[in-house]
Amino acid sequence: METRKINIAIDGFSSCGKSTMAKQLAKKLNYTYVDSGAMYRAITLYFLRNHIDWTDITEVEEALKNISLYFKVNSQTGISEIHLNDENVEYVIRDLVIAEKVSEVAAIRQVREFAVKQQQEIGKQKGVIMDGRDIGTTVFPEAELKIFMTADIAVRVERRFKELYAKNPNVTIEEVKTNLEMRDYIDSNREFSPLRKADDAIIIDNTNLTPNEQLTKVLDLFKVALNKNISQ
Ligand code: CDP
Ligand code: CDP
Repeated sequence: METRKINIAIDGFSSCGKSTMAKQLAKKLNYTYVDSGAMYRAITLYFLRNHIDWTDITEVEEALKNISLYFKVNSQTGISEIHLNDENVEYVIRDLVIAEKVSEVAAIRQVREFAVKQQQEIGKQKGVIMDGRDIGTTVFPEAELKIFMTADIAVRVERRFKELYAKNPNVTIEEVKTNLEMRDYIDSNREFSPLRKADDAIIIDNTNLTPNEQLTKVLDLFKVALNKNISQ
């Protein structure tokens, strides 16, 4: 049986279904899922908790020395969860308070270098599905399959609002929309590894697709990418 594995890079705007697709695919293929955004969110949580002034690069560099991040699969859910200095922060980092600052923090060169180094280390073993903003362009420019996801902004806002509202009924649709638009803007316009579609990435617009429909689409693309890789 063919056991060769490939790396899969999934990039795109906020809340368009990247992690949903990456998780489904990882389960189906028995691959490792890595949520690169969780790393930037966890670093932001650390900065906020420790009152780090991230406009001061020396403070940022010192703070990064005290941050250790790793992913650990929850044996009950099978989902990989991020740990910040041994604390499971998978759920706290999803808060809007973090979402409001994460794009500023993720724009800092030193923060990106810190995260990308670890992401590339994980990717060496192959069989990794990573989602984010710069995976196909910077982290795994050699990934055998690259997907760039999009969906209409109204649909993305609605999807993210539902998630956040379930946890906190004080959240408004307006603040979710403002946050997604602000992050998409900062992420696309920052100096270091801005959000871009890699030239060889395949676009999936899932505005009208259910999670199952998007999985079928990506599985077809996976088969093509794997066969191409084997025959080379
Ligand atoms: O899930 P959602 O699309 O809301 O965001 P995320 O994937 O958790 O990423 C949170 C933030 O981290 C993004 O808005 C980016 O600012 C940053 N990020 C990044 O700069 N590069 C990545 N590879 C992943 C995330
Ligand atoms: O990772 P990203 O921020 O791109 O998005 P996500 O967290 O995977 O998806 C945001 C929300 O959209 C989740 O609640 C998904 O269940 C939902 N979703 C959906 O309704 N239909 C899809 N085709 C994909 C995601």
